[in-house]
Formats: sequence, structure tokens, C-alpha cells
Amino acid sequence: MDSLVPMDNEVQGFETLAIHAGQAADPATGAVVPPIYQVSTYKQDGIGGLRGGYEYSRSANPTRTALEVCLAEIEGGARGLAFASGLAAEDALVRAVCRPGDHVIIPDDAYGGTYRLFAKVAAPWGVAYDPAPLSDVEAVRAAVRPETKIIWVETPTNPLLNIADIRALAVIAHDAGALLVVDNTFASPYLQRPLDLGADVVVHSTTKYMGGHSDVIGGALIAADEALGEQLAFHQNAMGGVAGPFDAWLTLRGIKTLGIRMDRHSANAERIVEMLTRHPAVRTVLYPGLPEHPGHDVAAKQMKAFGGMVSFRMESEDEAVRVCERTKLFTLGESLGGVESLIEHPGRMTHASAAGSPLEVPGDLVRLSVGIEDAADLLRDLRQALD
Ligand SMILES: Cc1ncc(COP(=O)(O)O)c(C=O)c1O
Repeated sequence: MDSLVPMDNEVQGFETLAIHAGQAADPATGAVVPPIYQVSTYKQDGIGGLRGGYEYSRSANPTRTALEVCLAEIEGGARGLAFASGLAAEDALVRAVCRPGDHVIIPDDAYGGTYRLFAKVAAPWGVAYDPAPLSDVEAVRAAVRPETKIIWVETPTNPLLNIADIRALAVIAHDAGALLVVDNTFASPYLQRPLDLGADVVVHSTTKYMGGHSDVIGGALIAADEALGEQLAFHQNAMGGVAGPFDAWLTLRGIKTLGIRMDRHSANAERIVEMLTRHPAVRTVLYPGLPEHPGHDVAAKQMKAFGGMVSFRMESEDEAVRVCERTKLFTLGESLGGVESLIEHPGRMTHASAAGSPLEVPGDLVRLSVGIEDAADLLRDLRQALD
């Protein structure tokens, strides 16, 4: 089928791939965007006579294939796979790579749901995990065990915006015979391409910047090499947590504008960071674009810009909660990466599941997902909430 054909090798510009990869005109009608193939099964021309390789939509569906080809191309991988959510993608990856007795290193400030997956699902299955500060390369090296199968990286992290050096951690992982997995949700492939830096698998909650419009839940895995991609594809089908056709279509549509959105998210975030660093009610601003951020130099090397996520600490938990409840344009809500700006209190919202664990986040922390609205309106709203 035409839409399965990857882009011509000459075409490598990010926006071109985002708009065209996996998305040749529909062979049946010439439709310039892939149709939503809302179908579960396919007519066979005789037993085993499949048209375009499709037999049942858990195994493959043309709309999902278009997204999967596009994901692989924009991350620079051999194989892309689309799932029903970021956590479904993570679960499939852990089941495909790990067996009881194995060990995984996770960030000591991992996304709360990722932590919960390891603590409450993988650990009871027999896969041990250790949280480590991934911005400290030597601490990661010291945490490696003979049974370590994965070093799991988020960079920037959710919600503390710590930075890990992907290239250095890839060397440690490979010396140990482990895989380097990078959750690239916060940066997106427009700002950071982990596979180019030595990672083996990229994970996404496509719910966030990839979808970009707060209207779809989805996840993705992109494997650097074909053999690992096959293994992950087997688990995608065997476990069945696939993206449905409409969700795949929405995500594909979001990806077309990823580049211009990320530029604007980053530019708006920089304006907001500048205001927050001068505001007397704000104790500290966490943003990798700030020269004083401990991960700034690494971020500047591996990211094209510093993204739309900004966290800051107030003087107390009460003040943090108060700011979250006083904004009018920044909507109080979980999730991130949409065109509209969001504000949240990680300790009581997205990261509540990490309470009482080593991954508990500070109560005075506020997290912003800076949208692409007019920056002046965003600044005005935050100032009135802080004053
Ligand atoms: C960094 C990160 N990874 C993974 C996930 C999980 O993705 P989903 O909510 O799509 O299952 C999230 C969700 O917030 C996230 O922020």
C-alpha cells in the first residue's frame, strides 16, 4: 500500500517528514490525508489473500500504520508503534524486554504513572527497580547491576525539569548490556532526537505535544533497530493496547504542526520564565533554558530549544495551591502539551501517586504547561495570580 512507503531518502527536514511521512495520497480515492479506517476486519481474496497486508485491526490498521511510519521517521528510528496511551506503551516495552529477576534504573523524579508502573505492576511481577538521579552520570553507573536490563530516562523530567545526558547514559547502558530508553514526551522529536544520541527506544505519551490539542490519549514506542522493533510489535499485538483509528488520525493531524507549535511553546515559556525569575513571590524557577539550571549545558547540547514546560517553587504549599486556584487563562488541570496553557499542583494532582515514596515532589511546586496563546495575556494572568 502506498501509505506504507517511507519518504524518499532525500527528504529529511523535520516539518516535511511530519507532514508527509507515511501519508502518501490514499490509493483508493486520492484523499490527501489518510482516511480514518474505522474498521476491525478486512475482506480476504481467498484464504490468506490479504490486500495490503491487513487482516485484523489489532494487528494492523492503515490509519495507525500511517502514524507509525510517521513516528519512526520523525524520531529517526527503524520502527514506530502506536498505543492506546503512554502507559500502555511503557507496559508493552517492559513486558517485551524484562523478565522476573531483571532490574531497571528509573529517574528519581520520574513521572508518577511511570513510577507506579514499576512499583505496583513490574515489581510484583519480579522486576526490581532503583530510582537514581539521572542528571548524575556517576550515580547511574553505580546503580547498574548485572541484572540491569533498562536505564529509563526522562529528560527534561516531569515535573522537576532535570536534565539527563543521553549520550553519556547510552554508553553506560551499552557497557552494561542494557537498553537506554528515553521518554521524550516533554521535548518531542522536534526539540530532541534521543535515537541520534545513542538511545535504543523512545517512549511518548502522544497525548501531550505530539497530539497537541488536549483531545486524544495515546502512546508510542520508536525502536532504533528493526529486531527490537519486531519484538515490541509482537507485544503490541499480543497485549493489544493499540491506538484506535480515530485516535491515530488525531495524533497524525497534531504532528503536522508540531514544529511550529514547539517553537511558540518555547518562546512563550522563555517570556514567562523571565517574569517569574524577577517576581518576589517566587522562590525558584526550574527551567533548563536558564543558564543557572544545573542541566543547562547538557540541554543546550541535546535540545534545539528548551520547551514549554516551566516549574517553580513558592515559599509554601499554601501559596502554591493559591496560585494554581487564582489563574483565569491558565486552566487548572492535569496533562500538558496542548495549545492551551495549563497550571497544576504536582504534589496533589499528577504526582499524588508518588506521595510517601522516594519520588514525592515538593509541596510548594507549581507546574505550568505554557500554551501558544498571546504571551502578553499569559503574563498578565500569572501576575494577577501571584500578586
Ligand atoms: C513524561 C510522561 N510519560 C508518560 C506519561 C503517560 O502517558 P499517558 O497519560 O498517555 O498514559 C505521561 C503522562 O502524563 C508523562 O507526562
